[in-house]
Amino acid sequence: MPGSPKSSSSAPRILIVAGARPNFMKIAPILKEIRSRDDVDATLVHTGQHYDDRMSASFFRALGIPEPDHNLSVGSGTHGEQTAAVLTKIERLLIDEPPAAVLVVGDVNSTIAAALAAVKLGIPVAHVEAGLRAGDRAMPEEINRILTDAISDWLFTTERSGDENLQREGIPAERIHFVGNVMIDTLMANLERARELSTLEDFELEPQAYGLLTLHRPSNVDDPTVLSRLFSALEKIHADVPILFPTHPRTRSAISSLLGGETPALRMVEPIGYLDFLNLMANARLVLTDSGGIQEETTALGTPCLTLRENTERPITLTEGTNVLCGTDPDRILAAAREIIDVGGRKGSRPEFWDGQASKRIVDVLVESLEARA
Ligand code: UD1
Repeated sequence: MPGSPKSSSSAPRILIVAGARPNFMKIAPILKEIRSRDDVDATLVHTGQHYDDRMSASFFRALGIPEPDHNLSVGSGTHGEQTAAVLTKIERLLIDEPPAAVLVVGDVNSTIAAALAAVKLGIPVAHVEAGLRAGDRAMPEEINRILTDAISDWLFTTERSGDENLQREGIPAERIHFVGNVMIDTLMANLERARELSTLEDFELEPQAYGLLTLHRPSNVDDPTVLSRLFSALEKIHADVPILFPTHPRTRSAISSLLGGETPALRMVEPIGYLDFLNLMANARLVLTDSGGIQEETTALGTPCLTLRENTERPITLTEGTNVLCGTDPDRILAAAREIIDVGGRKGSRPEFWDGQASKRIVDVLVESLEARA
């Protein structure tokens, strides 16, 4: 069975946790690397934080991720409810079948909940994508990042700023490992396949002649004033260059509850699967987003990105990549978009270790370290 640990093996077993959409492209290459080796074993747990086919199962299919060994089916809820449900359910699993280590990725509620359950049971925790800081504690993810990093044994960073942030917070240097970006491992492994798809024809778009928009941060979509100001700028850009807007479920319900169902004059579509979305990013004139991961993916692709936030936890996308921080002021967004449309965006370069080998570096560190502990 593809999802099961290698039964006869005495190799250390790492329990990998994924819960929400941005986790799936991060665990895929790590799981693949572990499954290709004899000196380490893996179990996959899906917390069920995201559960719609378009937010979850479609990513498993596209990326060839095996069925999870366990699905905790926690679903939606308040932050407290969701975090508590993962904590309670995963704790039981860790008691019944203790792994050698637990590996968590990113900064969602499932990340901190699983890390907390493990560390209290004396099971060491590896955090992939450690050290990112937006400097904004109003972001739920920032709290998840700080807490997860504080209790992790291995902190795997994607950019050097992460190492500096962790050292400033007093994390011992020997726990910090700069390994690069697993999400870019997945991007590089799938780009060619994605480019062969008929996504642009399906949406009747021409290469370099459309914008791609995602919006789901609570600070942008839960406040009707912010949301309608954003839409006023985006609709003006759409009049020049059509904007395709795959709409997150949170945003769709905000539009119907906060804006009285008045939909923006953009091309709103359902959430799009990994490969089609990658193809759309690779061919877009510009991408507008409040996502963290998309800032990195556009930098890796060389596609201009406008980030509709006041801060970013991924500063290398600004200093080396194609990202520009625009905030939520309509005039600023409009001016930045016009510049890209008229004269082209920043070219940028691919950051250090965003080279498709991050997962291998991570698993090498873990195996060596677990062997030394055995
Ligand atoms: C979560 C993460 C965020 C990440 C985002 C990517 C936290 C704190 N936030 O935010 O960091 O960028 O995922 O999507 O963990 N819903 C569905 N179907 C689903 C999942 C959610 O309809 O499969 C709806 C529900 O109404 C739910 C809402 O979306 O209440 C929000 O889902 P939730 O997991 O709470 O947070 P996200 O906004 O998705």
